[in-house]
Amino acid sequence: MDKLVIRGGNRLHGVVTVDGAKNAILPALSATLLTDQTCVLRGVPKLQDVYTMVEVLANLGCSVRSDNCSLTIDAGAVKHYQAPYELVRQMRASFLVAGPLLARFGRASMALPGGCAIGPRPIDLHLKGFFAMGARVSLDNGRIELTANSLRGATVYLDFPSVGATENLMMAASLAKGITYIENAAEEPEVVDLANMINSMGGRVSGAGTKTIRIEGVESLKGTTHEVIPDRAEAATFMIAAAVTGGDVVLKNVIPDHLKAVSAKLREAGVSVEEDGSLIHVRGDKILKAVDVKTMPYPGFPTDLQAPMMSLLAVCEGTSLVTETVFENRFSHVDELKRMGASIKVEDRSALIKGVTQLTGAAVKAADLRAGAALVIAGLVASGVTQVTGVHHINRGYGDLASKLRALGADIQGEASP
Ligand code: UD1
Repeated sequence: MDKLVIRGGNRLHGVVTVDGAKNAILPALSATLLTDQTCVLRGVPKLQDVYTMVEVLANLGCSVRSDNCSLTIDAGAVKHYQAPYELVRQMRASFLVAGPLLARFGRASMALPGGCAIGPRPIDLHLKGFFAMGARVSLDNGRIELTANSLRGATVYLDFPSVGATENLMMAASLAKGITYIENAAEEPEVVDLANMINSMGGRVSGAGTKTIRIEGVESLKGTTHEVIPDRAEAATFMIAAAVTGGDVVLKNVIPDHLKAVSAKLREAGVSVEEDGSLIHVRGDKILKAVDVKTMPYPGFPTDLQAPMMSLLAVCEGTSLVTETVFENRFSHVDELKRMGASIKVEDRSALIKGVTQLTGAAVKAADLRAGAALVIAGLVASGVTQVTGVHHINRGYGDLASKLRALGADIQGEASP
């Protein structure tokens, strides 16, 4: 199925359960390489990116067993230290195996990573950190070669609070000799989840969730059972979809604190968002008002939700300004939304959105994961039929977006593309 066909206009209503977080399970899978003992991961979402990471691990020599929503990984017999180009180019997060491989085996050989087409995504901060910890870094035929007799603790200042660099360095440092400080570290909840997992393996990580993370290296780590946190990007996608369709939806399995920035912006636009323990209740029964959004590292408004939010702003009353500060070139959804009747003008990293009363269905193409989610949301509220192609991007990060939306009353079907 590489096409979603949506007949817009239905209000979403009902209850939806959010899956485990893509951005937490990917580093957790990498962290299983830090030990020769068995790790069990729970709350595993069924996503293409998870399958790709499992393939990376299997390729290195790990044994992986899957049972419903859990994965059992044994990295006791790792034989290779190389992650192949065909896998790494599909998913940037596969570079996260570099830190654990380097720390445990003193060697990692990685193809330069790929991933969503959302502008240049360098890995210089990861490499700078490995170098500071005593690794030799070289580039050979498109591969990064990392070697170290033993890693030693270091103080690493990140020029930007990169999520991936923070995670990679935290994993490497957990088996280094001595103490590492990561300064200007990413504060994302998924970083905290990884720190919790490393600590449950016998690691000594403190300060995760703040700007400075302290990691005291240990001799070895043991196996663990770890349940990943709920996916705040999936949750927010349903919140926005509920709001824009004038719906009434309860989300289960959420951590409302992780969604503060999104909830605040939805409330500012006139949406009712109520929190109750691990539930969020969203009602969008009023006319929505324009709001300005600026993406920032956590706890700011997440870049991953900029595109879905823009679909909502496209039909709000008034003019909104969206500024993307995290990634260059993350506006691939704009031209597609314009084809559905949205009025959007982009200048550099900002988009000015003049709300229209109605979007109209069209054939549109998803160029990356969250752009795909944005087009689905636009299709839910547009008149007529919207056909979204490039669905493989959506499947990287949403377990079963179409069936979950159908269960909430949306008219959305998967079809094979010609
Ligand atoms: C992670 C998330 C992704 C999210 C992003 C930002 C995962 C699997 N993916 O991606 O969904 O959109 O965080 O919240 O967790 N940068 C450098 N040098 C580096 C590393 C990053 O300049 O060495 C820059 C990037 O180009 C980008 C910014 O830092 O402009 C943020 O990137 P980063 O936080 O590293 O994103 P990812 O970890 O790839």
